[in-house]
Amino acid sequence: MADTHKIYFEPVDIEMEVGEDEKILDAAFRQGIHLMHGCREGQCSACKSYILEGEIQMERYSTFACNDAEVDEGYVLLCRAHAFSDCTIELLNFDEDELLGGVPIQDVRTRVTAIEPMTRDIVSLRLTAIEPATYEFKPGQYSDIFIPGTDEHRSFSMATTQSTPGEVEFLIKKYPGGRFSALLDDGLAVGDELHVNGPYGSFTIKEGHALPVVCIGGGAGMAPILSLLRHLNETESTRPVRFYYGARTAADLFYVDEILALGEGLRDFEFVACLSEPLPEAPSPDGGGMPSGLRPELGNVTDVVARREEALARCEVYLCGPPPMVDAALLFLEQQGVPNDQVFHDSFTSPVTVVTT
Ligand SMILES: Cc1cc2nc3c(=O)[nH]c(=O)nc-3n(C[C@H](O)[C@H](O)[C@H](O)COP(=O)(O)OP(=O)(O)OC[C@H]3O[C@@H](n4cnc5c(N)ncnc54)[C@H](O)[C@@H]3O)c2cc1C
Ligand code: FES
Repeated sequence: MADTHKIYFEPVDIEMEVGEDEKILDAAFRQGIHLMHGCREGQCSACKSYILEGEIQMERYSTFACNDAEVDEGYVLLCRAHAFSDCTIELLNFDEDELLGGVPIQDVRTRVTAIEPMTRDIVSLRLTAIEPATYEFKPGQYSDIFIPGTDEHRSFSMATTQSTPGEVEFLIKKYPGGRFSALLDDGLAVGDELHVNGPYGSFTIKEGHALPVVCIGGGAGMAPILSLLRHLNETESTRPVRFYYGARTAADLFYVDEILALGEGLRDFEFVACLSEPLPEAPSPDGGGMPSGLRPELGNVTDVVARREEALARCEVYLCGPPPMVDAALLFLEQQGVPNDQVFHDSFTSPVTVVTT
């Protein structure tokens, strides 16, 4: 059995044990400690912390998430880190409510109940939980879905909420040759079983907060935002909500009617479709596209937000989708002076595109 060491987290005064063969973030989850995290692949920097004392080594990670100078200074990505002595680690980001009160990680056997095209490259995958019969998660969180017959998995955000605790929907962008997403064309069928593990992620609505909510999404980044909107609607939230969704053309829009219906249940809601290539297109397979009355804004979603939002520093911003979009928006939000603790983001990175040292 691998040697174990003690990890002491400051400034939260929490101690735990970690084996040399497990990553510090995984050891924390195992012991019910929900540290701040995003991708869990060493790519997003959400788990970046500071080593005050002790010996730590990291597995493969992206230098965009933690550069060489930071590593030399003592910064570490806890999702990639193994401890080889007792350590004291300073958490740079943490959510006091989540730390010891997060939803426990579950292993769920599920069955595919529907695979439906939403647009030319986005598919809705619906699963029903078999064992256990319900899956607990917070709106905006994500799961690992295992590639059948392997111990490899991919992360996908839930689009649904706890109003359907045994039925979960994911919205998945297809990549040609993608190990998981290509299965949606001919490798998976209704009735097949999938192993789901989760929930993970900090892209959740914070109870008791009152600031206006600005959601910025692109592509399959619709999924966790739809979950947040469904939750805000179900809980009759009174917070103002604006949702900027970036797509290439009108044919890449989907669920627009449901989004507008959810918005009708909110006190102050606006949906802004942002089209980067406004060429005339055939309607999407779900009969979606631009509904009458909805006027799209032209341009990248970040440019549209920049044109329309004047007081972002007084909003909570939920940002998610393809990594280039998320990176551009994070830079813009920093320039606008939006405090870090008002920005929640999930960057839809792939483990095979990681840029390493
Ligand atoms: C926290 C989190 C939440 C996520 N939620 C979702 C979600 O709700 N819906 C969703 O569709 N995806 C989501 N993703 C991304 C998802 O986990 C996979 O990485 C993605 O679906 C590709 O997996 P794959 O097995 O199909 O392709 P892979 O086999 O991993 O990759 C095959 C090829 O596809 C291309 N590719 C894959 N990903 C990208 C990318 N991001 N940008 C450019 N090219 C790429 C590359 O050419 C790559 O070589 C999420 C990722 C994270 C970290
Ligand atoms: S870099 Fe660790 S969670 Fe993303």
